[in-house]
Amino acid sequence: MSETIQTIKGMYHINTYGCQANVHDSEKIAGILRCMGYLEAADEEEATLILFNTCCVRENAENKLLGHLGQVKRMKEKRPELLVAVCGCMMQQDAAVTRLRQSYPYVDVIFGTFNLHALPELLDAARQGGRQVVDVWESHGDIREDLPVQREHSFKASVNIMYGCNNYCSFCIVPYVRGRERSRGSADILNECRELAAGGAKEVLLLGQNVNSYGSETGGAQSFAKLLREIQGIDGLERIRFMTSHPKDLSDELVRAIADCGKVCRHVHLPVQSGSDRILAAMNRRYTKAGYLELVRKLKAISPDMRITTDIIVGFPGETEQDFEHTLDVVRQARFQNAFTFKYSKRTGTPAASMADQVDGETVDRRFARLLEELTPIAYEISASNIGRTVKVLAEEVNSADPGRVTGRAEDNSIVHFDADASCIGRIVDVRVTGCRTFYLSGLVVRYPNPCGDRISNCSPMQPGLVVRYPGEVV
Ligand code: 5AD
Ligand code: SF4
Repeated sequence: MSETIQTIKGMYHINTYGCQANVHDSEKIAGILRCMGYLEAADEEEATLILFNTCCVRENAENKLLGHLGQVKRMKEKRPELLVAVCGCMMQQDAAVTRLRQSYPYVDVIFGTFNLHALPELLDAARQGGRQVVDVWESHGDIREDLPVQREHSFKASVNIMYGCNNYCSFCIVPYVRGRERSRGSADILNECRELAAGGAKEVLLLGQNVNSYGSETGGAQSFAKLLREIQGIDGLERIRFMTSHPKDLSDELVRAIADCGKVCRHVHLPVQSGSDRILAAMNRRYTKAGYLELVRKLKAISPDMRITTDIIVGFPGETEQDFEHTLDVVRQARFQNAFTFKYSKRTGTPAASMADQVDGETVDRRFARLLEELTPIAYEISASNIGRTVKVLAEEVNSADPGRVTGRAEDNSIVHFDADASCIGRIVDVRVTGCRTFYLSGLVVRYPNPCGDRISNCSPMQPGLVVRYPGEVV
């Protein structure tokens, strides 16, 4: 047996629910486990440690977890040495922890969002004690800059720029489970981005619940606009993305920075939630329909290629047909490239949970379907407007359904499928768009850059710099 194999402590499998922040936390958990001597298992069957990183933003994420835990119970009956750990946002709620302690005693370790770094001790305690180990902190400690990260990709990477949220939208549980806003120091962020670029990253995704208020605790010394300008200067990085932007904090200074920084992708995710001023006030969003549409106008003025995506909640307490019509009107005026649409989900402990006039399920279903009817043709038109254009696509993965195709993202956030093989993964290729569906484009590689000047790629039959015609193209 080789020395590496002798030191392996176990095999881990992580199930991640929820948003990009959770996905990135799971990369940190994986980093910690790798340092401890764990390797990633191919699947749950091979794992000796199964970890669930949970979400509680809507009820269905919680239900999914509980269903999945039921399956793991059967695995644990067959393999009692299997360790099961549950962490993340849902575990920051007392009721959820109590439920797990009472009804899921086979869960070995429970911890929260504030103490990822404690995982080694918690696992050791669980292994020794044979009892359920619970360690959930009520609030955050100092920002930890020393956690290892096992990143899923080398060519694109998420970077936390801030943690927590101060906004207390009345429907949202996040401020209660992720704590108050804390911004990382810009020097730490820049160092991380530089290291990523040196390691081959082409794209960074700057993460925060509300990136627009980055640095607000520094009295203006640091701001998101300044940060974007600094990251723009990092050699090797080609694309900067960010999420999520709260409309109330999208300043003109930030709009100018987005316009000035060529590496900042022409896509902003700007959750509107509702188009009704009355509902926006009840949601504590602190902007109006007109204010939101004005921001969309300013962003689109940066470039005709600017794409806006959004989040919309249907059926917030008290939402009338008239309120809902305002939401449809925003959809028509803002022309979203895509929208994440949610049925309002009552979250215990939030102000909206105790509001009168909860909307009945049938009405919510009807409005939800109507909303999609309004969104879909617009998304299709935006998608179709790319046909015949050449777009720059960061090639991300071989298409699981068709190994002769690769999937990536264009600068404007469009998903693009194109004929190529795995050798182009991690590179930015020029793709001529030849067709589309509502939520993706398809095309052919026209130019495959060879930035190192090394070999000519076998990614496609074309040589670097060669432009090809596609069937039906008029040249
Ligand atoms: N019900 C439905 N959707 C919600 N979101 C947050 N909380 C709730 C809730 N209680 C949605 C919002 C937010 C996105 C991340 O999740 O649209 O922007
Ligand atoms: Fe939740 Fe509002 Fe904070 Fe977003 S800004 S995380 S919706 S409270």
